[in-house]
Amino acid sequence: MQLDLTDRDFRNFSTLIYEKSGINLHHGKRELLKARLAKVLRQFDFKSVGDYYDFLMQDTSGDAFIPLLDVISTNLTAFLREPKHFEFLAETAVPELCAAAGTGNAGRIRVWCAGCSSGEEAYSIAMTMLEALPENRRPDLRILGTDISTRMLQLAEKGVYEASRVDKVPYAMRRQYFQKGVNRWKGFYRVKPLVRDIVQFRRLNFIEPFAFSRPFDIVFCRNVMIYFDKETQEKLVNRFHEVIQGAGYLFIGHSESLTGVRHRFRYVRPSVYRK
Ligand SMILES: C[S@@+](CC[C@H](N)C(=O)[O-])C[C@H]1O[C@@H](n2cnc3c(N)ncnc32)[C@H](O)[C@@H]1O
Repeated sequence: MQLDLTDRDFRNFSTLIYEKSGINLHHGKRELLKARLAKVLRQFDFKSVGDYYDFLMQDTSGDAFIPLLDVISTNLTAFLREPKHFEFLAETAVPELCAAAGTGNAGRIRVWCAGCSSGEEAYSIAMTMLEALPENRRPDLRILGTDISTRMLQLAEKGVYEASRVDKVPYAMRRQYFQKGVNRWKGFYRVKPLVRDIVQFRRLNFIEPFAFSRPFDIVFCRNVMIYFDKETQEKLVNRFHEVIQGAGYLFIGHSESLTGVRHRFRYVRPSVYRK
């Protein structure tokens, strides 16, 4: 479908998307918005961008926005993406948390993978931490993966990935934590229950209130804030500060920076911060 997107349509949709998700679609993103709107219009058989906009404006439940936010979000991810973070997690953060778990953390470690996309990042955290934690005195480890995209969360929950995505995981880790598919699942890998059991996924939109029963020791929020403006980034980073306990860690993407964002974290190394 050749889509007509007037200046007014662009303004309407970019404002709406900003209000609903914090995602900042500046003028350079016009073609991207056009392509993604075409997809959703086709899917739901809307005749024009205007009809679709009117439909969204009439919705009071918030549900109508879910497919729009699903197509707008960019979901690029990979297992063990930005490996330096996983090295730091295994060599520095985990030993520290274990020491703290022994002295008053009730033997529990909680990690939030915020903006987890299709699950690779949350499972990478889980596998890295299982490897690094002492087997005989392993604290109760829980990882929560959240995302705005219901489509990505469905994939994350399945935990089934094409072999080409899993091939980059080191052989020993792959053997330990993945089941290789056979017959109709040939060419796929499935994350084993020992990993899936400690990872939970749920929908969470960063611009809505957080409702967590317990604080986190570590928050990963990587390659998400690049889609937000400084104001939204600042609010989010300060809300992360509130839900992290003790001297917990915040990991952001290597191409992101908190420069120009007022926050209370201590800088540890590029893209690693500490409460
Ligand atoms: C590029 S992916 C990054 C995935 C992973 N963190 C990584 O670094 O590989 C960005 C993710 O942020 C999610 N996202 C964008 N806006 C969001 C919002 N307002 N609330 C929650 N998640 C959001 C997207 O759906 C997408 O899956």
